[in-house]
Amino acid sequence: MTAAPPFSIEASTALLERSKRSLAMGVSSGMRKAGAPAPLFFERGEGAWYFDADGHRLLDYTLAWGPLILGNAHPAVIAAVTDQLSRGFAFGAQHRGEIELAELMTSVVPGLDRVIFSNTGSEAVQAALRLARAFTGRPLFVKFEGHYHGWFNNVLVSYRSKATDPVTALPTCGGQPHHEFADTVVVSWNDRAALERAFADHPGQIAAVLTEPLLANSGSCEAEPGFLAGVIDCCRRHGAVSVFDEVITGFRLALGGAREHFGLAPDLSVYAKAMAAGFALAAVGGRKEIFDVLDDGRTIHAGTYNGNPVNLAAGAATIRTLSAPGTFERMHAHGRALRARIESAAAARSIPLVTSGSGPVFSVHFGLTAKPRDYRDTLRADANRYAAFRLALLHRGVYVLPDGRWYVGAVHGEPELAHALAAIDAAMGDLAESTP
Ligand SMILES: Cc1ncc(COP(=O)(O)O)c(C=O)c1O
Repeated sequence: MTAAPPFSIEASTALLERSKRSLAMGVSSGMRKAGAPAPLFFERGEGAWYFDADGHRLLDYTLAWGPLILGNAHPAVIAAVTDQLSRGFAFGAQHRGEIELAELMTSVVPGLDRVIFSNTGSEAVQAALRLARAFTGRPLFVKFEGHYHGWFNNVLVSYRSKATDPVTALPTCGGQPHHEFADTVVVSWNDRAALERAFADHPGQIAAVLTEPLLANSGSCEAEPGFLAGVIDCCRRHGAVSVFDEVITGFRLALGGAREHFGLAPDLSVYAKAMAAGFALAAVGGRKEIFDVLDDGRTIHAGTYNGNPVNLAAGAATIRTLSAPGTFERMHAHGRALRARIESAAAARSIPLVTSGSGPVFSVHFGLTAKPRDYRDTLRADANRYAAFRLALLHRGVYVLPDGRWYVGAVHGEPELAHALAAIDAAMGDLAESTP
């Protein structure tokens, strides 16, 4: 095994120090602070490769936390966006691009009768909750422990927070007054009895049940057989709206997201990230009856940047590119190959480890011997060992997220796989050597 090459962070560290003098935290999202050895500064991205300020060329499996499913600088996206830029940046009014993307989405995603556009996943989740409340006339909604639905106070609850018994709604950070999540009911995931109890405890009060269909934000835990169908069924029986937060799974597990992948039809789904390949675009889609609350004025959906023509052009180009036959099969196969190598490289060195998730988004857990079933199981994983593995990968030219999650995009091909597999072997070797 050759020794890992040094990894200089001099330029990134200097830029971070300079950044901190004017930009609070020095980074633009709190999630990016944790990037050991330092949050890296990037100069440019091309396909699946990033080029950082210290001159490294890094193979990217973060996809910018998910959106870059086609990688950076994809020619189809550049062509669509530059064409639209030359014809107008914003209208604050209707344009053909809205119809085109809405028609595209309703034709490729099963069970979407209508969509609305928004800019970020956080906003779109709020729009879905408002639709559900206006539709049902009820105040409360259920979310599951460990699930992330954006940074707004009513959903940033029991995410990366203490695991209490029984499960209670807890804020994730400072500045979240209790009254802002007083209508949020939190239950354990993969626990149908707990969900039924929530409905029994709050009769006629629950407007919606919000779930990540794959718990990508806490260890890529998979729903147990029948659980997601059970959520939909439970909502139907109790007159509530089932909402899949497909900000991660949408246009990733399949072209039709979790709906297609699992063959399920929740009332609403929320999309962002992969739907526009890195441009700020989000959407809510689902049953016509629920969107009638907008048509008949029971509630409103608004936003200066909603339906922005440039972002919508990026969205349409992305979905058309992803529609090419074999795209999702290749992504799943690539993900499976990475997981298999991570598992076999660990097993060969007697390092306990499991992976969980689905091909295009999966997580690596050191120290676990069975796949985590929910957020609480992920707390038992050895985060320090993953941090060491991540660092070793970085030295070998592979860039992954700090929380154990890997994103595979349509941009990852055979050369990337070969590079990644060699890096995984070498990094696992480094880890075995450095551990007593
Ligand atoms: C499942 C899920 N929902 C909502 C969001 C929030 O989306 P955004 O960061 O675009 O506001 C995220 C972001 O990671 C997410 O993973």
